[in-house]
Amino acid sequence: MFEDRPPAKVNLTLAVVGRRPDGFHELRSIFLRIGLTDRLMMAPTPTGDRDQLTVTGLSGAPSTRDNLVLRALDALRAHAGINFPPLAVTLDKRIPAAAGLGGGSSDGASALRLAQAVWGIRVARNAELDLAASLGSDIPFFYFNMPAASVAGRGEDVSWLPAINGGLGLLLVHPPFKLATTQVFARHDKLGVEHGDTIEAIGEILAIFDDEPTANEVLEAAGGLRDANDLWPSAASLAPSLPALRDELEAQTSRPWQMSGSGPTLFALYPSAAEAADAGKGLVAGRSPALENALINAVDVDGPDPAWRFP
Ligand code: C5P
Repeated sequence: MFEDRPPAKVNLTLAVVGRRPDGFHELRSIFLRIGLTDRLMMAPTPTGDRDQLTVTGLSGAPSTRDNLVLRALDALRAHAGINFPPLAVTLDKRIPAAAGLGGGSSDGASALRLAQAVWGIRVARNAELDLAASLGSDIPFFYFNMPAASVAGRGEDVSWLPAINGGLGLLLVHPPFKLATTQVFARHDKLGVEHGDTIEAIGEILAIFDDEPTANEVLEAAGGLRDANDLWPSAASLAPSLPALRDELEAQTSRPWQMSGSGPTLFALYPSAAEAADAGKGLVAGRSPALENALINAVDVDGPDPAWRFP
């Protein structure tokens, strides 16, 4: 049995700088790996002639050929031109699906790595990036297991950034609905959002990551990151309850909250996971209707497990 723990990410900033000829959007973003992980287990299956995928835990991830885990196995077979034996795969979901946290992409990236171990093969170094990117825009970041990255292109152009020295806490609130990335980008095109301030925020955060950053340095920048996600207006337009949720979170915690990726997950930064957990407990005690049925996770960037979660 081979096992991995695919981690989630948040986008500290996300600028959409244009539309590309291939239909994707040209992005500039800072990705941060966080300590909220799925569990992926793989073993050769003694029976059956197809890969078998069992999904447990949080609902919402596909258990069919649409799942990036199975697509990763097929992509490896096609790349090698060898019909490697079928695998029995179990995916235990802890990262909410279609939440802006890259969970599905991370599962796919893990599957690419893990299947190489099971089958005893190694993709050539100069082919890894293209193979990972062919599966999805966010997959290279996870495949190369970076603590943080400066991201360009459609998401596949990743430059390694150092881990945050001493860790950093995050409180994540996942409202009880999904947002499809495709739809959020389509709404963005309709709304025609400006991105000037976001590019500035990226410059500021990159300066902090120039040298191994501390939690304090990142926290000091948090106010400037609040509105540094160009997909926020589109997500808020598709999910009109999101701005009210953010207002409520900011009122209750006295901190800036921002959206990760194409949403709808909202998060705030804290000096430690313990402080994020205390704030999360305060939110639960507040019994706000805006938070009804939301999932809450208090995590450290280094994880792997949340320090606290609700329910
Ligand atoms: O690459 P991935 O499959 O994760 O992208 C999902 C969808 O999000 C794409 O089909 C596209 O509609 C949109 N997208 C985009 N520009 C990007 C990344 C994703 O338009 N840079």
